[in-house]
Amino acid sequence: SVLVIDFGSPYNQLLTRSIRELGIYSELRPHTISVDEVKVLQPKGIILSGGPYYIHDQHRYRIDENIFTLGIPILGICYGAQLITDHFGGKVTHHADRSYEAGTIKVQNKAGLFSELDKEQVVYMSKGDTISELPEKFEVDATDVAGDIAAFSNESEKMYGVQFYPEKQESEHGVKLLKNFLFTISGCTGEWSIERFIDTEIANIKAEVGDKKVLCALSGGVDSSVVAALIHKAIGDQLTCIFVDHGLLRKNEANEVMELLADDFHMNIIQVDAADRFLSKLTGVDDPEEKRKIIGNEFIAVFDEEAAKLTDVDYLAQGTLYSDVIESGTETGQKVKSHHNVGGLPEDMEFKLIEPIRSLFKDEVRKLGTALGLPDHIVWRQPFPGPGLGIRVLGEVTREKLTIVREADAILREEIALAGLDRDIWQYFAILPNIRSVGVRDDARSYDYTVGLRAVHSVDGMTSDWARIDWEILDKISHRIVAEVDHVNRVVYDITSKPPATIEWE
Ligand code: XMP
Repeated sequence: SVLVIDFGSPYNQLLTRSIRELGIYSELRPHTISVDEVKVLQPKGIILSGGPYYIHDQHRYRIDENIFTLGIPILGICYGAQLITDHFGGKVTHHADRSYEAGTIKVQNKAGLFSELDKEQVVYMSKGDTISELPEKFEVDATDVAGDIAAFSNESEKMYGVQFYPEKQESEHGVKLLKNFLFTISGCTGEWSIERFIDTEIANIKAEVGDKKVLCALSGGVDSSVVAALIHKAIGDQLTCIFVDHGLLRKNEANEVMELLADDFHMNIIQVDAADRFLSKLTGVDDPEEKRKIIGNEFIAVFDEEAAKLTDVDYLAQGTLYSDVIESGTETGQKVKSHHNVGGLPEDMEFKLIEPIRSLFKDEVRKLGTALGLPDHIVWRQPFPGPGLGIRVLGEVTREKLTIVREADAILREEIALAGLDRDIWQYFAILPNIRSVGVRDDARSYDYTVGLRAVHSVDGMTSDWARIDWEILDKISHRIVAEVDHVNRVVYDITSKPPATIEWE
């Protein structure tokens, strides 16, 4: 494997994933990792990432310097390169605020990192701090147009540094450079793949669980479905899933989950129809955060009750992802919404946890799902919030309003799929604002609901831009909704981005 030590560069997940795409298992770990922890991981190569600090900042991120003595090949990227320079006694000069630009470098040493690469190449440079003096026994491998050091190495110690980001697309030979470091210099073999992951993970699950029983909360989403399918493949009927239908799911969703996982995959699934319970708890409540809290708590209560009926269960399976692992504890952003995740279970449950996808990124989870035989509509499912339609009916949730938003949403989804846009648009759904307005139908005045449509492009939900859906498609959706859904006489399309809006309306 390869270890990426995180000094805060925004491209680190991209870097870690690009390495995995080369068939090499890589892990991103915080800069506080100790030399002993590194020894346990036994990486074939170490990459020190870029980061926001200047090497002489008081608050700069440090590294356990014993890592430099392990004899493992090290590649430093920007901040990482400066860290190597500083550690071995070279000089880094700070002269301007950090900026980034694509620039050409000239390669002087075509061995090592630059083996078989062009002598001149465009790279995505980080400017502001320069390496003004290399440590002893280090050599310049490349310079930029200003003559500053762009890459350096100490071949005999297998230490390398670059003042640019090879993982960024703008670096034309970035991937080849990484391959040189990973395969030629570090001796990685590139045998990691999802199929291998399945084999090793199944063996791990079997070894861990033995003849004990595992419980899994299904939500119908990608992560919990993939976790269930993987564990089921490993231990079959020793797995029991609980699927809490809170009545806030989209049209046909519960049936689809049951047909696929219970009927086709033959999993043990306890389906709990708890719609009435949730609805009665939500009666009279119109505050979004309050609704989230109620839905989250009620989910736990229902799950608890069902779990208590089962005896001899030792393990609880969870669909924790690598991004959750990396991001937990580092979140400093202000709370906008509580993102109460239905499926988030109480911490005091007396189960041992198994989290078989905690080393995977979302796109790898999708690949895993496909490899396990899950169909595209599950694997490529758009994000759906835990509280479901409960936060898409604005204000108080009632059965009537749920029906309206559910039917409108189904039409929207059907038309988006027909237009071939379902993988193109990150998330799209209908909202029912608490608005009624005047319309005219069959020559008579109507006073009915407005449905809002939302469709956004996003990478991770943190920011988003509204999707420029073709007017003809929107027109068809609008016509269908007012014609087919009772109590709707108006349809509007949300053309705000996030920020300042959020993706959901509550
Ligand atoms: P916002 O509305 O905050 O949404 O821009 C960003 C992403 O998060 C989803 N979302 C939620 N997911 N529980 C969830 O599991 C929630 O309470 C929740 N609220 C928003 C939203 O659908 C979007 O993908």
